[in-house]
Amino acid sequence: MQAPMPTAFESPLVVVSNRGPVSFLRGADGTLVGERGSGGLVTALAGVLFESDATWLAAAMTDADREVAATGRSIEVEPAGRAAFVDIDPARYDGYYNGIANRVLWLMHHYLFDLAYLPAWDMETRQIWNDYREVNQTFAKALDAERDRDPVYLVQDYQLSLVPQMLREMQPGARIAHFTHTPFSGPTYLRLLPVGMREELLRGLLGADILGFQSERWAENFLLSVRDTLRDVRVDVRRKRIDIDGRRVLVRAYPIALDPGPLRRTSGSAEVKQLRRELGAWRGDAKLLLRVDRLELSKNIVRGFHAYDSFLVEHPEWRGKVKFLSILPRSRTEIPEYQTYAERSLEAAAAVNRRHGGEGWTPLEVRTEEDYLGAVAAYGLYDTMLVNPIFDGMNLVSMEGPLVNKRHGALALSVNAGAYGRLGRHAIALNPFDVAETAEAIHTGLTMPEEERTRRARGLMRSVLASSPTRWLTAQLRDLDTVRGVARRQREVLEDGPLGFNGESAALDEFDGGLHRGDADDERD
Ligand code: F6P
Repeated sequence: MQAPMPTAFESPLVVVSNRGPVSFLRGADGTLVGERGSGGLVTALAGVLFESDATWLAAAMTDADREVAATGRSIEVEPAGRAAFVDIDPARYDGYYNGIANRVLWLMHHYLFDLAYLPAWDMETRQIWNDYREVNQTFAKALDAERDRDPVYLVQDYQLSLVPQMLREMQPGARIAHFTHTPFSGPTYLRLLPVGMREELLRGLLGADILGFQSERWAENFLLSVRDTLRDVRVDVRRKRIDIDGRRVLVRAYPIALDPGPLRRTSGSAEVKQLRRELGAWRGDAKLLLRVDRLELSKNIVRGFHAYDSFLVEHPEWRGKVKFLSILPRSRTEIPEYQTYAERSLEAAAAVNRRHGGEGWTPLEVRTEEDYLGAVAAYGLYDTMLVNPIFDGMNLVSMEGPLVNKRHGALALSVNAGAYGRLGRHAIALNPFDVAETAEAIHTGLTMPEEERTRRARGLMRSVLASSPTRWLTAQLRDLDTVRGVARRQREVLEDGPLGFNGESAALDEFDGGLHRGDADDERD
């Protein structure tokens, strides 16, 4: 008799993303020194995946990563995971990453093309699409090399859209989930792509058994895009599934969540406490308005600065009484659109200071260096945090801030951030294109009565803690078993095991106590 297929819960996990959870450098003494990878995906997933005995493959970013890749081995990552690297030809990587991933797919999924002029596809587009295809193929081969362990493959994000179908062709029986961390643009906008690219992109994703998105809105956009583009597949929008090549694909929302533990530990560290003291001294008696974002187009930084300018015009009584700290590490600096956007953002910031500053008061400070600890320190002290992305898959900053803020700070949040679904009712909603409304949201946040601030801050924290990265992963594995027909009873027994939900209520209890502990901590600071 043939052995039953193991459940997803008892199978090894192989994760793949472009940027990995760790990257290596050679220390002065020649030893390998690991550094945590940056970005929302890593922040959200590293904990749960490495606790779950996963192997995580990513592109080699440094010479030391390439050395590791050359050994063909993986490296242990605490507490229970392994990291491995895929060495990609630098010439191909440029077309794949800077070209297609960041100039085409990122701009498309966030609706950022300047449509009067761009896109204008040319022969170079075809070439870089070929690079994208080749690099996706390299990743798929690296995943296929794991086939003897019969793992569950968890493919992450828009850089690797073609991997599921490529892997499916290598291993027709593979169990594959793909998760998109960005928005997914809808059928009309997707029609901007050359028709061949559009079809290849959708078919590439449809190689998976499960397609995960951050919100229902993006999942529905995917379903409608497939219905609009591919004639030979059956799309059931209501049941959120697609039948293709005799297989069923589930298209679902699995909103990602934060693991509160590491962030709270960082926030409570001696280094962050010191940074908080310094920041407190810099702020003085003023209220603190904060934003923390990568310096990048989808974050809507220019309109955010215009809104602050408008707030100061409409409410001159706030002159000298508020400071806007914008922590905006530079991102994707090799790409012209991103360079131009960074320049325009900094110009808009300078204009605010020229127009309103003086008499010892600088209304806006922009910090463009990478400074995670500085950001965590600032989370502790804001009175209002502005999160106004044009569109955003989820937005983890809007969850991190409320988790460690010590002043019952208000959150002014774009309705186009995936996080709005979870946090919206406790936040001050804003349309990211409405500068006047954003200015008013800043004012509402800064003048909100203490009782309301406290109620909303507690609501935000509860909403952040109501989910967890474990739940994100478990829901996908459960659906993978469902779509592959693995016995329900066997699964239920296993779900009580290491990936069960048992830790969550404890986390909430800890939070309720934590708010008070945080306040005390602030006084000590
Ligand atoms: O938002 C999705 C995401 O993959 C994040 O993890 C990350 O912040 C970003 O996109 C990719 O950034 P980078 O191009 O710097 O790797």
